[in-house]
Amino acid sequence: MLAERMKGFSGSQTSGMRNRARKLRAGGIHVVNFAAGELDKDTSPGIKAAARKAIDSGRTQYTDTLGIAELRERLAQKVSQKTGVTYAADEVGFTAGAKQALFNANFVVFQPGDEVIIPSPYWVTLPEQVRLAGATPVFLPTGHNGFQINVDELARLITPRTRGLILNTPHNPTGVVYSASVLEKIARLAMEHDLICIFDECYDELVYAPAVHHNIVKLVPEMKARTILIGSLSKSYCMAGWRAGFFAAPQAIVKAIANLQSHIASNPCNLVQYAALAAFEPANDAFVAGNLAQLRTQRATALELVQKIPGLPCVVPDGAFYLFPDVSSLFSKSFHGERVENVDRLAELLLQHAHIAIVPGSAFGCDQHVRISYAIPAEEIVAGLTRFGQFVHSLT
Ligand SMILES: Cc1ncc(COP(=O)(O)O)c(C=O)c1O
Repeated sequence: MLAERMKGFSGSQTSGMRNRARKLRAGGIHVVNFAAGELDKDTSPGIKAAARKAIDSGRTQYTDTLGIAELRERLAQKVSQKTGVTYAADEVGFTAGAKQALFNANFVVFQPGDEVIIPSPYWVTLPEQVRLAGATPVFLPTGHNGFQINVDELARLITPRTRGLILNTPHNPTGVVYSASVLEKIARLAMEHDLICIFDECYDELVYAPAVHHNIVKLVPEMKARTILIGSLSKSYCMAGWRAGFFAAPQAIVKAIANLQSHIASNPCNLVQYAALAAFEPANDAFVAGNLAQLRTQRATALELVQKIPGLPCVVPDGAFYLFPDVSSLFSKSFHGERVENVDRLAELLLQHAHIAIVPGSAFGCDQHVRISYAIPAEEIVAGLTRFGQFVHSLT
């Protein structure tokens, strides 16, 4: 019944785990949800007021596919500031979340026969979108290198078919932030081999000093001509469910995306566009800074507890809000006679018996690790990771 292209295509494993945790909770079980990909808090009063005002002003019409002129101007300004390179309003667009911006980008630039390099582990959706565009994802393993990109290894993956690469920094699921020198080298490679770079910086405002986020166009301005920058309001502005994302790209790509999008969903929600305009007001800088400060404390709490659990080495994340510890030392053990044979089984046992939801690394192409989101209240972090520790101690 289904089209060929849906063969082997499944839903996002991160959403799957979240849904299962929600179901258990609905049944009255206290499940600690480490599987969320968003902050566990409300958005800012200013953003909510702008959305209310948009409703009261009767903003019920379709808008231009890539957003109202005022918002595109504001986005262009924001991206110009971020990159130090001038972007015009027709070089940016607003979308229903960064996910839609990424899909559109993949769809308009990649085609069957193309290879697209993605560092692995990767955010679940990235390779699937490359496949939906008919192209082939080619993975660059980074686990042996603290999840940082080894540029020589990247260069060795480039073939005559390589058409592009997708970079995500700060990185989901590992929390690593790519250095300026690595990004500069990658930019040179991209220019040498005529590659398109999709640069996903959805977590760019969630970086823990002294670490610094680097934008590839800012580092190498010539990259503007071959880069699609992707941004999101989901994370730092706590607007995940509002669906608010954006992109910046060369005009021809923006035009193609507008054409594609006009036949799929038309414009992103009119009301959310006004909320996004409010989000970019300087008044919200303190809101974002407050979120980051809170995450920094939560990161410290989570790291300390994970480091206390024997056999769970973990890279200290410089950005985003995930820990990605190596759990492979548990695979030789048993829980009440049942082997913890792999990371999926571990996630299952943790959900059933410790009532904690984590995402198995297999969802991110890395079956030795699990992803733990610490964007939840401190008492939940403590309760959940204490249970994780007790579970590990009970293994034989
Ligand atoms: C790396 C990365 N890119 C894109 C997205 C999508 O964000 P949005 O909610 O704006 O669609 C996510 C969400 O988890 C993400 O982690």
